[in-house]
Amino acid sequence: MCGIVGAIAKRNVVPILLEGLKQLEYRGYDSAGVAVLNGHLQRVRSTGRVAELEKLTQAQGLSGAIGIAHTRWATHGVPSEKNAHPHVSGGVSVVHNGIIENHEELRAKLRAQGYEFVSDTDTEVIAHLVHSNLKAGAGLFDAVRNSVAELVGAYAIAVVSESDPSRLVVARMGAPLLLGVGDGENFAASDASALLQVTRRMIYLEEGDVVDIRLGGFQIWDTNGKRVERKVHVSELAADAVELGPYRHFMQKEIFEQPGAAANTLEMVTNARSISPRLFGAEAEAILRRIDSVLILACGTSYHAGVVARYWIEAIAGLPCNVEIASEYRYRASVPNPRALVVTISQSGETADTIAALNHAKSLGHAFCLTICNVAESALVRQSDLRFLTRAGPEIGVASTKAFTTQLAALVLLTAVLAKQRGRITVEREAELIHALRHLPAALSHVLQVEPSIKTWAARFAVREHALFLGRGIHYPIALEGALKLKEISYIHAEAYPAGELKHGPLALVDSNMPVVAIAPRDALLEKLKSNMQEVRARGGELYVLADQDAHIEASDGVHVITLTDHAGILSPILHTIPLQLLAYHTALARGNDVDKPRNLAKSVTVE
Ligand code: M6R
Repeated sequence: MCGIVGAIAKRNVVPILLEGLKQLEYRGYDSAGVAVLNGHLQRVRSTGRVAELEKLTQAQGLSGAIGIAHTRWATHGVPSEKNAHPHVSGGVSVVHNGIIENHEELRAKLRAQGYEFVSDTDTEVIAHLVHSNLKAGAGLFDAVRNSVAELVGAYAIAVVSESDPSRLVVARMGAPLLLGVGDGENFAASDASALLQVTRRMIYLEEGDVVDIRLGGFQIWDTNGKRVERKVHVSELAADAVELGPYRHFMQKEIFEQPGAAANTLEMVTNARSISPRLFGAEAEAILRRIDSVLILACGTSYHAGVVARYWIEAIAGLPCNVEIASEYRYRASVPNPRALVVTISQSGETADTIAALNHAKSLGHAFCLTICNVAESALVRQSDLRFLTRAGPEIGVASTKAFTTQLAALVLLTAVLAKQRGRITVEREAELIHALRHLPAALSHVLQVEPSIKTWAARFAVREHALFLGRGIHYPIALEGALKLKEISYIHAEAYPAGELKHGPLALVDSNMPVVAIAPRDALLEKLKSNMQEVRARGGELYVLADQDAHIEASDGVHVITLTDHAGILSPILHTIPLQLLAYHTALARGNDVDKPRNLAKSVTVE
């Protein structure tokens, strides 16, 4: 998604702006631009990568002590230079993340004032609005404040103007924005990673904040127009956490980081004798006792983690559990249960649909909110009473991998806590679970060794245009996740079904051109799954089976088998995920795709 960087300093800020954009590249973008003030406004934009923008800035000798920069992920208007940010109006320049819903109405009004539009974006209205306010006599800060008061929708903006080169003005509503506090220089960005190069001291802005940033400091006004102070956080993000190291792609690095990510996430438990509710916050013990059900809200891969958790929570803790796709839940007339625990799951903690779903749940009277999130400083963490931070480290590849498996690890812990509080798990069973969790990193390392066999499968998948994924019970959401991974980065059309559903429709698709992946753990549904696999073979479909060792499934004509470990009990879905991630990665690689930045997708989906 779009990224913003802004800076005001006593030095040339162009290298800072460009480095910030580079750190935001992983979020996905199709064009980029930078504008600085140096006597007058200078702007450079490009539809290429940030590296090309950098060359252009060098060729044009761009330099200035105050400026703004942007990576754009197209919503209104195709990716093109004219639609790339910053947008300008007279000497005003603006970068924007989000969507202005009333842009048509504002366009008409500004056209009537004589403004001409040169782009197809919703953002251009903001530049003209600020300009018209300046023309009417307002200073830059008030011009921005008056302008945002007219906007309906979501925005994080940064504005500079030739009329006042001593100020950078920023504002946010519904899209993330933070300040970076420097010594005699200050910054703003949509993501902390863009500013670690210059400072670790960050201020996370609240909804409706407008900020006047100057060399020596800044003043924040809240949504009610009141001067406010906001807490300075010292970021714990490691500046080198976004380095590729010896790997070819971030996705590959992140797949192989999973044993370490699981170990870090589970550290508080594997070194303990029991699984404490305090893992979810100081008030968790009391809150979790009061709930009578669970409502999980999430998107994409995080939603799949929620679907796995439903099986655990209902079967082990005995609590009713609903899982909703956040973008649907927020618009559905659901029946709220104030005693349900609302659990949001998110890697980024900035997914607009998940944040909106949480706010919707709160507006319906839901009082208990827990987030399972990978980013400590994110909006979801800040807005939730209870929290569990997965410690996967920054996830850069658009395809979520280590975030998913650590979310599952966290959800096992939540299940155990809920089950313990309801007397549904014995001390012995809890000890066994802790033992299994202690072993999880080693088990993940072991499963990663299937990579060479998966590469062989990937070569066969790479020449297909369709694939089916089958799972039963708790492994059905793992099939969903396998299909999502494959389509997302290889662009192969993939569907997942609970295997029992095959003969209710999808079996019609099966012929010798349809590879079918079957997830075959040695669980209570194995014999049923074997029958479903027979149905596929009888129609000439080629089977790719991920089998537990103790499932005793042998390869045969048209049946390829990769054997994992003996059945891993409750942790089985986590282990079965790994080969599916590797399959997607190697298939995409074989097709020559940009694995880390798949077309049309963004890492952090901060717009609806
Ligand atoms: O940051 P989040 O976990 O809230 O993101 C949710 C989805 O956008 C994300 O999982 C998406 O589906 C991934 N690209 C899947 O690999």
